Amino acid sequence: MKRLPTPLLSRALPLLALVGAAALLSGCERPPPNTEQTGYRGTGMVQVSNPRLDAAKLEANQAPAPLPPAAADGPKAGTIYQNVKVLGDLSVGEFTRTMLAMTQWVAPQQGCGYCHNLQNLADDSLYTKRVARRMLQMTEHVNADWKTHVGATGVTCYTCHRGNHVPAYVWYTAAPRDYPGITGGASGEEALQDKPSPSVDFSSLPYDPFTPYLLGHESIRAAGLMATTGRLQPMLQTEKTYGLMVHMAGALGVNCTYCHNTRNFATWENSNPARVTAWYGIRMARELNVDYLGSLAGTFPPKRLGPTGDVAKVNCLTCHQGVFKPLYGAQMAKDYPALLTVSAPAPDAPASAAAPAAPAASAATASAGTPALTLAQAATTK
Ligand code: HEC
Ligand code: HEC
Ligand code: HEC
Ligand code: HEC
Repeated sequence: MKRLPTPLLSRALPLLALVGAAALLSGCERPPPNTEQTGYRGTGMVQVSNPRLDAAKLEANQAPAPLPPAAADGPKAGTIYQNVKVLGDLSVGEFTRTMLAMTQWVAPQQGCGYCHNLQNLADDSLYTKRVARRMLQMTEHVNADWKTHVGATGVTCYTCHRGNHVPAYVWYTAAPRDYPGITGGASGEEALQDKPSPSVDFSSLPYDPFTPYLLGHESIRAAGLMATTGRLQPMLQTEKTYGLMVHMAGALGVNCTYCHNTRNFATWENSNPARVTAWYGIRMARELNVDYLGSLAGTFPPKRLGPTGDVAKVNCLTCHQGVFKPLYGAQMAKDYPALLTVSAPAPDAPASAAAPAAPAASAATASAGTPALTLAQAATTK
């Protein structure tokens, strides 16, 4: 090995020491975590966050500026164009502006041709156009009928898509795993767990808590308070519930105490109002998955389907992307009248789901250790 000439070595050594010290220091220099008390003292209701990661998240979750407004008067799109089933009531100007915005939000690279046969814009032959029409109805439905969750913030295509055809965060039903030597029989007690997955923050919890809760209506409960049937049910249900909770906390970038009071995770009267919003969020995601995405099962090509042949679906992360309110609560939707109200469907358009029945009563009674409190009260209780 060639030795360094001494003068060079003696000059290099302090430099190396300096680099080492800087590396050490930068380890310590990470800004101290932010902590914020969000509930009663002594209940652990504190949010802890890392300012460095927060800054990166803030940058990644900025809403694009709205397109310049279009004239609301003039002829309606429905009278000018041939095959408009959802947006017919818009002025031609607002219709075109909506097409431009959709292009920016979903297919900024490909442009109009991602959904359209450019020889004939009225043609529905591309599946992407048929999907986009259903997406329009879904977005309108969320903004008009799920104010219990999305409030005045609302959603646009961008909330989920962020410039991608397929939103960055979607889920499919997990395929049952094969166990060597066990055929078929394992599925009854198959919990689909113990395989680190980002869906449950790499914990050993069941990694598909979405199929039971965001597609199905299984009970979201920790075991112990009620009689149950089946040997493994209470334990499995608890584990799946925790799986969903870990997803929810991660999707919003918050701790459990953003919604819960550690004194009692189940009761509503001690929970934060955000838990009520989350309760509606679970029902909303479920409905979107069943009535909108599920209804597109026959429309998507095989390359878009999951391992069990299902369509990609939404969970909390699809919209929230690590933030307590998508895009930090930027009110994008209000600038796009097309997305705010449910359009009267044209006779041959697929039926939109009915507005959800007020779930307040069922929420109150659904909680184990049932609160005597209504959701409206819960929403105003600190
Ligand atoms: C993400 C998919 C998507 C993109 C991208 C898109 N469109 Fe559309 N377009 C649709 C859908 C869906 C409809 C039907 C709307 C309805 O039924 O209310 C439509 C309908 C139209 C129509 C009416 C055609 C007719 O005669 O029925 C025109 C015109 C149009 N789009 C123009 C454009 C232009 C111009 C662009 C590019 C700036 C564009 N679109 C980009 C999905 C898209
Ligand atoms: C709540 C989240 C959400 C919103 C809001 C949303 N989408 Fe989607 N979109 C999805 C999911 C999930 C898929 C399924 C992904 C796939 O293609 O497998 C999808 C798929 C699509 C596709 C098919 C893309 C492809 O390449 O297969 C198009 C086109 C589309 N959406 C357009 C729109 C338009 C236009 C809007 C706004 C009017 C919109 N979406 C709003 C979640 C959303
Ligand atoms: C964004 C709000 C939110 C966050 C964050 C959250 N939860 Fe929940 N949690 C809820 C809601 C809403 C329910 C009730 C679900 C239902 O009934 O549909 C619930 C239910 C539960 C239950 C079942 C209670 C019962 O009735 O048996 C447990 C246990 C639980 N959460 C634990 C946790 C843990 C642990 C965390 C952190 C990893 C967490 N939660 C994070 C909102 C939240
Ligand atoms: C379709 C997009 C969408 C989906 C899916 C979604 N959310 Fe939200 N969520 C929103 C919007 C938009 C807001 C902002 C509402 C407002 O400003 O009042 C919000 C707000 C919230 C809040 C209130 C935050 C606060 O600080 O007040 C909670 C809690 C929440 N969501 C939980 C969830 C959970 C849990 C899920 C999954 C079960 C979920 N959301 C799924 C769009 C969504």
